[in-house]
Amino acid sequence: MEVLEALRGRQSIKSYLPIPVEEEKLQAVLEAGRLAPSSYNSQCRKFLVVTDPALRKALHDRAGTQPMIEQAPVVIVICATPDQEHADAMPCGESKHPIDAALSGAYMMLEAYAQGLGTCWLGAFDAEAVKEVLGIPRDVKVVTMMPLGYHDGTQPRRDRKPLEELVSRNRF
Ligand SMILES: Cc1cc2nc3c(=O)[nH]c(=O)nc-3n(C[C@H](O)[C@H](O)[C@H](O)COP(=O)(O)O)c2cc1C
Repeated sequence: MEVLEALRGRQSIKSYLPIPVEEEKLQAVLEAGRLAPSSYNSQCRKFLVVTDPALRKALHDRAGTQPMIEQAPVVIVICATPDQEHADAMPCGESKHPIDAALSGAYMMLEAYAQGLGTCWLGAFDAEAVKEVLGIPRDVKVVTMMPLGYHDGTQPRRDRKPLEELVSRNRF
């Protein structure tokens, strides 16, 4: 599949079918996350694969997030683990851990699309509650929870601004 085809086809899927995800497809999605770049190539990340229905229900009930967490057969929790060698603030002033995690998540979302699966990046949840439910250490940051699963393909597509609104050349 062409990269642009996947980029144009991917959507944030909000409703999932009760169909299990094949292990080889899950592995391909995780592998995509593993291949993502990271600051200093530090790869300070961990992907928690949550399939246990009781845990997904607990995440839904206690972390205050959307129904898709309970509905999707798989939830991938992307965490940033402590970096012993580098400060989190990069010279540009930005924090590196959410960017590293977002790149892994973006790669996973595209591979999931190529595998015929839906995903949705989630930011609306209580990270401390997620840590409690899943036994995640204090010094690890939970950056997103991403449901993964099959869907019925009927969700309307959301628009993007035209390039002319986004791009300028040479000067802002
Ligand atoms: C950082 C981030 C946080 C998001 N958080 C949520 C969320 O908590 N719940 C949700 O339903 N969608 C969430 N989304 C999905 C966006 O709403 C979605 O990407 C956007 O509306 C564009 O839709 P599309 O991805 O289908 O093109 C999030 C996306 C990003 C990038």
